[in-house]
Amino acid sequence: MRLVKPSLEWKQQHENFMVKWGSDRMVPSSMDLSGFDTYEEFLFALDLRAKGEHPWVPSSHYFLIDGKDQIIGMVDIRHELNEFLRNIGGHIGYGILPSERKKGYATYLLKEVLTKCKELQIDQVLITCDEDNIGSAKVIMNNGGIEDDLFITEEGVMKRRFWISIK
Ligand SMILES: CC(C)(COP(=O)(O)OP(=O)(O)OC[C@H]1O[C@@H](n2cnc3c(N)ncnc32)[C@H](O)[C@@H]1OP(=O)(O)O)[C@@H](O)C(=O)NCCC(=O)NCCS
Repeated sequence: MRLVKPSLEWKQQHENFMVKWGSDRMVPSSMDLSGFDTYEEFLFALDLRAKGEHPWVPSSHYFLIDGKDQIIGMVDIRHELNEFLRNIGGHIGYGILPSERKKGYATYLLKEVLTKCKELQIDQVLITCDEDNIGSAKVIMNNGGIEDDLFITEEGVMKRRFWISIK
């Protein structure tokens, strides 16, 4: 298992991932290819985001690759928090391919990503999930998440908020 940055080399795999993901909202949304005419356009937009071009904060983006060189998950690290991220989005967003869920991959992915957070000198990592996202809450708690106050969005969605201290 390894983390790699999106590049042209992964175009076909990324397109396959989109098909296998299905019609649910892509998480993280930064990896959604819909709305782009070409993969180069997607990579360009992702690069602007990574550099923190307004309205984004600087970020890092990775695919989780399995032993067969297949993309099985995706993750964003937001390097700093703005008001939206502090309440709703958090530092990290991840998604695992539906067919690969409940195999421990998200727990593994978050553990690896926390080492990236350390390199980025993010000492306190905020991760959030919807109140009914039991799987994601477990992933966060498996990695030492300590729960903070809930945030309720304007739409009435309850967001659970967890902090992980990076040693
Ligand atoms: C949430 C998500 C990332 C979990 O990925 P995963 O690879 O299945 O997670 P893991 O296999 O590491 O599971 C961690 C724990 O949660 C449990 N779990 C996972 N999905 C679950 C579910 N739908 N319901 C109940 N428990 C679940 C696992 O059994 C495991 O329990 P354990 O620690 O007691 O063994 C995945 O379901 C997903 O991509 N969902 C859509 C996107 C999303 O919600 N992202 C998170 C945004 S906050």
